[in-house]
Amino acid sequence: MDHTSVSAMLHALQDPAGLPAPAWLFQYLNVLTWAFHIAFVNLALGTALLAIIAFMRRHHPGWAQLSVAMTGVAKVAVSMAIVLGVAPLLFTQTIYDPSWYTSNLLSAFWVIFFIFSLGIGYTLWFVFYFKNHDVAHAAQAKDATVWWATVALCILVFDGFIMHVLSYQGLFPQKWMQWYAPQGIPVMNGTGIHAFELPRFAFFMVMSLTMTGVFLLGYARYFRARSDVSADYLDLAHRIGVKTTYWGVALQLLTGVLWAYGLPSAMHVFAQPLFWLTALLIVGVALYARQVPVGGSALQAYAAMAFYALLALIVSVDREALRVAYLAPFHYDLASKPHVEWGAVVWFFATFIGVGGSLVAFYSTMLWKAGKVKGLYTADGAVSRLGSTAVFINFTWLAVFFAIGVWAYVRNIAA
Ligand code: HEM
Repeated sequence: MDHTSVSAMLHALQDPAGLPAPAWLFQYLNVLTWAFHIAFVNLALGTALLAIIAFMRRHHPGWAQLSVAMTGVAKVAVSMAIVLGVAPLLFTQTIYDPSWYTSNLLSAFWVIFFIFSLGIGYTLWFVFYFKNHDVAHAAQAKDATVWWATVALCILVFDGFIMHVLSYQGLFPQKWMQWYAPQGIPVMNGTGIHAFELPRFAFFMVMSLTMTGVFLLGYARYFRARSDVSADYLDLAHRIGVKTTYWGVALQLLTGVLWAYGLPSAMHVFAQPLFWLTALLIVGVALYARQVPVGGSALQAYAAMAFYALLALIVSVDREALRVAYLAPFHYDLASKPHVEWGAVVWFFATFIGVGGSLVAFYSTMLWKAGKVKGLYTADGAVSRLGSTAVFINFTWLAVFFAIGVWAYVRNIAA
């Protein structure tokens, strides 16, 4: 297909209802929310790997404790990764609807498989968790227990690969027809995996080590407040954190350079400031993590995680810049049919900030404080007020939601 036909096809595939808000807003939110998604994907995969390695060394009490802790972190992080995958999904399917839906249809079997296998992988992780959720269980567990975790991790990584294929295939609209109907005959089984780029996928995977490394620095600092957690154990966690960050950074540089070399020469990647900024940040994470002292201040330790957060955001910008570059020859216009509805925009942000913001603020403050206390935690005045405010906002939101529904219904009946 020539460029003009591809351009016309993309335009025809866009949702005729248009976009309810300016396209740039969705694009920014896509980049922002994907950074959150990948952060928890990285935390889940990295801590899962560490839980497995530590489990195999569980005859040493420090490693046994670390395996138990990381098994729990991975358990929570997978659910966060899933929840936080929904946000970029909403945005990508709104502004890149031709890419996302075409890619999903071309590999429909894998999309369905993704859902099933994610459920199975996560369940297997829970089996491992029940066998390894405290040090006493870990000590009694058989060596073969590790297979529950290993198979679970492999499935989750494969699910990441499916996500990669779906994203990547969407970047090549000029090939869609050929994938859909090779030699003019449609292949409707949806089992095809038509395109992938291993260095790109590997880059996102090895970033898990970087994330887990800096997370361990924060973890080792956070639990210093607890008298029942030994300093030796926290020192071990810190040291493993620094080492894991080194591995992550080294592998990110390797896979990142391979990825950049494989990109079309017309993109002139090595002449792009964004490329060098990303490389600088990757190296910066390792240099920073290296000098965080064992048992240093909270700011020093948590800043390592902030460094990773900045890196995740820039990597998300890189992904978007690449998508724009891939689609540029076809003059893809994000907002070819604008149809701004300010009511929807206001409602969206009110929900995001009011409902989401208040609940996240309450849960994170409560969990942060509870984790520092041994045994039962009783919320103080400020935390319980925050909880009540969040509940109040949620009920108000529900009331307004139904009121708008009833109003719209009655108005339509009247019309
Ligand atoms: C363990 C499970 C998962 C892993 C390991 C994973 C991993 C990834 C990776 C590596 C990418 C980047 C692919 C690329 O750009 O090449 C990605 C993108 C994405 N993931 Fe996930 N993911 C998981 C689960 C989910 C779930 C459950 C959702 C949705 C509810 C989701 C939604 C997305 C979206 C929307 C994108 C970006 C698509 C785009 O920008 O076009 N992911 N994921």
